Amino acid sequence: MGCNMENFKHYIPTEIKFGKGVISQLPDVLNRFGKNILLTYGGGSIKKSGLYDEITGLLSSNSFIITECSGVEPNPRIETVERGAALCRENGIDAVLAVGGGSVIDCAKAIATGTFCEGDLWNMVLDSRSGRRSLPVIVILTLSATGSEFDNKGVISNISTKEKYSSVFSYPVVSFCDPTYTFSVPKYQTACGSADILSHAMEAYFSRTDSSEISDGLAETIMRTVIHDLPAVLENPDNYDARANLMWASSLACSGILDYGKLYPGKTCHAIGHEFSAVYDVTHGEILSILTPRWMRFILRKDPSVAPRFARFARNVWNLSGENEYQLAEESINCLEDFLGSIGIATNLTSLGIGSTDFDDIATHADLRGRCSNSYVPLTHEDVVQILNDCL
Ligand code: NZQ
Ligand code: ZN
Repeated sequence: MGCNMENFKHYIPTEIKFGKGVISQLPDVLNRFGKNILLTYGGGSIKKSGLYDEITGLLSSNSFIITECSGVEPNPRIETVERGAALCRENGIDAVLAVGGGSVIDCAKAIATGTFCEGDLWNMVLDSRSGRRSLPVIVILTLSATGSEFDNKGVISNISTKEKYSSVFSYPVVSFCDPTYTFSVPKYQTACGSADILSHAMEAYFSRTDSSEISDGLAETIMRTVIHDLPAVLENPDNYDARANLMWASSLACSGILDYGKLYPGKTCHAIGHEFSAVYDVTHGEILSILTPRWMRFILRKDPSVAPRFARFARNVWNLSGENEYQLAEESINCLEDFLGSIGIATNLTSLGIGSTDFDDIATHADLRGRCSNSYVPLTHEDVVQILNDCL
C-alpha cells in the first residue's frame, strides 16, 4: 500500500528561452544587471564549436566588459570556485554568464554565491542554505544532462578531501536552451548525459508514493523520450527534434517537478555516484548507469513489495505485458540494463579500472546524509557494499 500524496511547493523562478537562435536576446537579458560580465566556461569545447566567438562578438558589440573564468573542469573543483569568486570581487562583476554543461553551470552558481562569502568557500558548499545572496546567473546550455539550467543546485568537488557535495545556491535568472548547441557533443558525453536524465526520472519515480499521477506520468514520458531519442542522436548528432526533446527532458527531469507529491526516496544512486566521482573523478552519468540496474535488482530481492512499482515501470516505460508482477519487474531491469549496455558507455566498474578497495569508505560516505539507510528500500552498510560488488 503506497503513501498518500505529500504536500509540495512549486517555485522555479528561472526563465527558459528555448529554441534555435534565442541567443539574440542575450544582450537584453544582461542589460538588466549591468555591463561587467564574468564569462565562465570549460575546457574549450565552446571555442571549437564557434559559440565562444558568437557570444563574445555579441557582448563586445553591445559594450559589455568581459572577464573570463575558463577551464572549469568536469566535476568542478572548489579551487575553480575560489578563482572565479575572486575575479568577481576584483572586477566588480554584475552578472555571471555560464556557457557549458552542468559542471560549468554548477561552478558559476557557486562563484556567484561565493562572491559574497568570506573565508574558505568549501564551508559555503557544506553550508547549503537557500536564499543566500548571489550575483545573477545566466546560462547558455551546451549539454543535455543535469538540469542545472533549471534548478538551484550545484555539485562541487574537493579532491584533496575526496568529497563531492550538492549544495543549494541560486536559480539561474534566465537559461538559453538552443538544441543546436548540443550537435557538437560527442557520443560518449551525449550518452552519459542521457543516462543522467534517465536517472533523475527514475530516482523520483521509485518512491513509496503511488498516487502522484502527474509526477509519475511526466517521469514516464521523460524516460520513454530518452529511450527513443538517445539512439536517434547517436545515429545522427544533428537530429534537431531529438536533441530538442533531450534538452527539455534534461531541464524537467532534475527540476524537482517529478518529485512533487512524492515521498523523498533518498536518490540513493546519486548519493553513491557522487562518492565515486569524488574518489575516482568518474563521469556522473556513467557511474549512475553502472549502479542503477544493480541497485534495482538488489532492492527488488530485498523487498519484493516494490514489485508493483517496477511492474508499472515495465508496462508504461518498456511496453512489457504480463500478469506476474515480480517477473515483469525483473524483465524491466533487464530492459534497462540492455539499453544502457547499447549506448557506448561502461557497464561495470572493472572496465573503468575500479576495484573494491574503497567500497567500505564509499558506502560510509554515501550514507552521511541518510540517503541509503533512509531511502526507498532502506539499505544497510553491508547492502551498499554488496551492490558495489555486483557492479564489478
Ligand atoms: O569543458 P568543455 O570543453 O566545455 O567540454 C565539456 C566536458 O568535457 C563537454 N561539452 C559540453 N558541451 C559540449 C561539450 N563538448 C562538445 N560540445 C558541446 N556542446 O562535455 C564534457 C562534460 O561536461 P559536464 O559539464 O561535466 O557534463 P554534465 O552536464 O553532465 O555535468 C556534470 C556535473 O553536473 C553535476 C554532476 O555531479 C557533475 O559534476 N550535476 C549537477 C546537478 C545539478 N546542478 O542539479 C544534478 C546532477 O545530478 C549532477 O550531479
Ligand atoms: Zn544526476
